[in-house]
Amino acid sequence: METQITSLKEYNTFGIEVLANNFNIAKNEDEILDFLRENKNVPLILGGGSNILFKKNINKAILKIEIKGIEIIEENKNSIYVSVGAGENWNDFVKWSLVKNYGGIENLSLIPGNVGSAPIQNIGAYGVELKDVFYSCRAISVDEKTIQIFNKEQCNFTYRSSIFKEKLKNKYIISRVTFKLSKTNHIINSEYKPLKDLLLYKGNLNPSVQDISKLVIEIRTNKLPDPKKIGNCGSFFKNPIISSIKFKNLFKNFNTVPNYKISENEVKIPAAWLIEECGFKGKIEGKTGTHKKHALVIINKGGATGEEIYNFSQKIKKSVLKKFNILLEEEVNIFE
Ligand code: EPU
Repeated sequence: METQITSLKEYNTFGIEVLANNFNIAKNEDEILDFLRENKNVPLILGGGSNILFKKNINKAILKIEIKGIEIIEENKNSIYVSVGAGENWNDFVKWSLVKNYGGIENLSLIPGNVGSAPIQNIGAYGVELKDVFYSCRAISVDEKTIQIFNKEQCNFTYRSSIFKEKLKNKYIISRVTFKLSKTNHIINSEYKPLKDLLLYKGNLNPSVQDISKLVIEIRTNKLPDPKKIGNCGSFFKNPIISSIKFKNLFKNFNTVPNYKISENEVKIPAAWLIEECGFKGKIEGKTGTHKKHALVIINKGGATGEEIYNFSQKIKKSVLKKFNILLEEEVNIFE
């Protein structure tokens, strides 16, 4: 276990320069358990730092999870069960699965962050969510200091959320995740419109999992900024889900609003559209702004403070609320 004063700039994809006075790294479950026994207060758990906005220096203990390892634990003719350390980089795991020709996570190519954070917010992209391939996870109870196993039902996965973001927030530290991937007869998810359009354009009617990954990477790199070059955390807000009644009223005034029916009573609206309509797409204010190709991505142009980015995000939120009477909810975790 290492402890030191540390700049967090390298540990958050917004690239915010803040200091932590008690920064620790855990490389296995025992190190997490030791840390919890030695520290009374609940630490801030850090994974890949791709979904967090630090507003100021951190005066509480940080525990960065660096548990590694990809292990096949069981397999049959059609499926494979793989246990992955929480500290493995998500996209490295996707690449590993594609080299072996395992199916299930190709649509989730290039999502930044680590494996351990993926279930917390039920990461998703291009028609696939983490929950579709999740089998179970090992998590350490902060209060009881024991290791517990959660199956899919126990995780209560919903759109960009899970029990670990709600009822059990800050109560468990995920150490390993087991995925169920396909070995044969892969289910190809190509219904998401931009993906479908690109496949048609390329004349590829029978794509492999590797083809899907390549196309997802092409779409993502075309409109989402690479956090290594421009600080960002992907989508800053969730896409709001509103009632069908509210949607009808919205549609009366804005009949071009894109919408996705979620259920009989609910409709999902792209936050990016709402933000763009408020004139914020590509808008730069000081060292922050929104990306020119995607209104939902707030960027650090270089040297922005967390406070600056936060204030800008709240300005967007107010503007959307005023124009559409829709309150956006942050997807990014904001750390005060
Ligand atoms: N749109 C605009 N203006 C823009 C961009 C998009 O009006 O500047 C509208 C368009 O109508 C477009 C729609 O928004 O069709 C949806 O845009 P996009 O396909 O880019 O997806 P998104 O809803 O903005 C979600 C996820 C992304 C994920 C993509 C692809 C959330 C909060 N975000 O974005 O996830 O990559 O779908 O599946 O659900 C992330 O969570 O950080 C993330 C990047």
